[in-house]
Amino acid sequence: MRLSFALLGLGLLGACGGEPSGEADASVAPLATIRSDSIALPADEETFGEGPQAALLNGRCLACHSVTMIRYQPPLDRKQWTATVDKMREAYRAPIEPGETEAIVDALMAKAPSRR
Ligand code: HEC
Repeated sequence: MRLSFALLGLGLLGACGGEPSGEADASVAPLATIRSDSIALPADEETFGEGPQAALLNGRCLACHSVTMIRYQPPLDRKQWTATVDKMREAYRAPIEPGETEAIVDALMAKAPSRR
């Protein structure tokens, strides 16, 4: 996935020094310079890959997060992943049935190497 953002750089350079003369000086540069820049963000892994566990995570998590975001967590144990999945469902309305939490946690333990 490649994203680029147009950034607006707004440089406001105030004139410093000198007493205000009260008269416009035609030789002074414009106060504001606006320019657009593009930046390329690093490519992200699109999905967790193939297989039933990957499919579960692809289907339940990637609507809101990238794979990288989920993998780059501090090492989480089962209990902590379970609390996270419950929070996704209850606080953020992720489309996760309570009955599938355990299978999702199994998948996270297998597919999110940050636990090590
Ligand atoms: C409906 C959108 C949605 C879905 C689906 C979703 N999340 Fe989240 N998640 C959020 C929001 C909102 C936050 C809080 C803001 C943030 O940190 O991005 C969050 C935060 C997190 C965090 C950061 C730690 C924390 O507790 O806040 C982790 C880890 C996480 N989600 C993992 C998951 C996993 C794993 C799944 C799939 C089982 C998932 N999320 C599905 C919306 C979602």
